[in-house]
Amino acid sequence: MQYEKVRTAVIGCGTISNIYIRNLSKLFSIIDLVALCDLNPETAKEKAALYGIPRVMTLDEIAEDPDIELAVCLTPVPGHASVIRRMLKAGKHVFSEKMLTEDLQDARELTALAAELGLQLGCAPDTSLGAGVQTARYAVDKGLIGQPTSCLISLNRDQSLLAESFRFLQQKGGALPFDMGGYYLSAMLMLLGSVEAVQAFASPALPHTPRNLYRGDSKDSFTIPGPAVMTGGLRFASGVLGSIHLNGSSANPEKPILTVYGTEGRIELGDPNTFRGPVTLVRANGQSCVLPLTHGYDGTPVLPDPTPWETVYGHRGIGAAELAWSVRKGRPARLGGSYGLHSMEILFGMTESAETGKAVSIESRVDLRPLPPGYYSAFYSIDGSSRGDAELSLAE
Ligand SMILES: NC(=O)c1ccc[n+]([C@@H]2O[C@H](COP(=O)([O-])OP(=O)(O)OC[C@H]3O[C@@H](n4cnc5c(N)ncnc54)[C@H](O)[C@@H]3O)[C@@H](O)[C@H]2O)c1
Repeated sequence: MQYEKVRTAVIGCGTISNIYIRNLSKLFSIIDLVALCDLNPETAKEKAALYGIPRVMTLDEIAEDPDIELAVCLTPVPGHASVIRRMLKAGKHVFSEKMLTEDLQDARELTALAAELGLQLGCAPDTSLGAGVQTARYAVDKGLIGQPTSCLISLNRDQSLLAESFRFLQQKGGALPFDMGGYYLSAMLMLLGSVEAVQAFASPALPHTPRNLYRGDSKDSFTIPGPAVMTGGLRFASGVLGSIHLNGSSANPEKPILTVYGTEGRIELGDPNTFRGPVTLVRANGQSCVLPLTHGYDGTPVLPDPTPWETVYGHRGIGAAELAWSVRKGRPARLGGSYGLHSMEILFGMTESAETGKAVSIESRVDLRPLPPGYYSAFYSIDGSSRGDAELSLAE
C-alpha cells in the first residue's frame, strides 16, 4: 500500500513512552516518529538517543512545525488538557494516553473543539483494539451467545499499596475506578456500545501507612483522593444491563472479570489491560472453549530483539496508528470521537450518582467500529522467519 507516512511527535517521555516510541517508530509503517518532547529536555534527549529518533523539540516548536501532523500525548493526566488544547489549536491531530483529561468539562470542550476543527482526537486504552477484545466482539457479533442481555465487570486491587511505588496514584485521578476503570469500560463499550444511564454507590479510600512490601520507599502516610470502591449498575442504550464493581481496597491478587451473558451462552474476557484475552465461550449446555484469536495485535513481541517493555505493554500504540491510518483514509478514527469522553462520563456519572443517590443520564454516545478479522500479529513462514500482516487490518 502506498500511503504517505504521518509525521508524529511524542510529548511526555516517561515510563509509558518507552513502548510507544518503540512501537510507533518500528512496528507501524504508517507512522514517521520525527520528534520527542518533554518538560525536561534531557529526558527527551536520552530517549531520542536510545531509540534513534531524529529530533528533540519544545511544545511550541512542535506547534509551529507544519510538517508534524499528529501529536501523541503521554504526560501525566493533569497535563493532558493543556497539551491537547495547544496541539489542536495548532492544527494537529492528537492521540492521548488515558484518561483524556482530569476534568469532565475539559474532556467535553476538547472533544467538541476537535470536531469543530475537523481534527481527530483519539484516546487510550487501545487494548480495546487488541486481539482479545476484538475476538470477543467478533463472537458476539456472530451471535455465538445469542442476544446479549447483561454484563458483569469486576476488578480488585490494593491501589494504596501500588501507590507507594507509583506516587502519581496518590493524587487526584489515582483512585482505582479512574486509573483502571477505563480499561474495563472501554472493552465493554467495544462489545455492547453506549451506556445511557448509571446508578452507583461509592466509598472513600482509607488512610494508608506505607509498608513498602512491593518496591517502594514511601515514608509519609497518604489517602488516595476520590472513591476507592465503586459499585453500580449500567444501562446500555441497547437495553443490556450491567453490574460494575471496582475495588481499590482489596488485598487479594487482582482478578479481572468481564463477562457478557446472552440468550444462547456467555463470553468471558481476559484482563483488558492486555491484548491477548483469553476469550472463553460457554454455551447453554455448559460446554466451553477458549476461542482462537481472530484478530492481529495479540501483544506477542514481533520486533527483533524485543525489549522488556514489549513483554509488559504489548502493542500499545495501535490506537495512534489506527488514527494515523484514519487521517490518511479520511474517516473517523475508531478510538476517536467520544471514545475518551464516554468512559469519563460514565465514571463521573457514577461518582455523582453515589453522592446524590439518583441515577445519572450519560450524554455522549460512541459508535465503535470493530477491526476486520483474519490478520495475524506474527506467523512463521516456511523459511522460519516471523512475519505479520496485522497492520492491514488498521488500514481497512
Ligand atoms: N506507567 C504506566 O504503566 C502507564 C500505563 C498506561 C498508561 N499510562 C498513562 O500514561 C501517561 C504517562 O504515564 P507515565 O507513567 O509515563 O508518567 P511519567 O511520570 O513516568 O512520565 C511523564 C513524563 O511527562 C513529562 N511531562 C509532564 N508534563 C509535560 C508537559 N506539559 N509537556 C511535556 N512533557 C511533560 C514529564 O517530565 C515526564 O517525563 C499517564 O496518562 C498515565 O495514565 C501509564
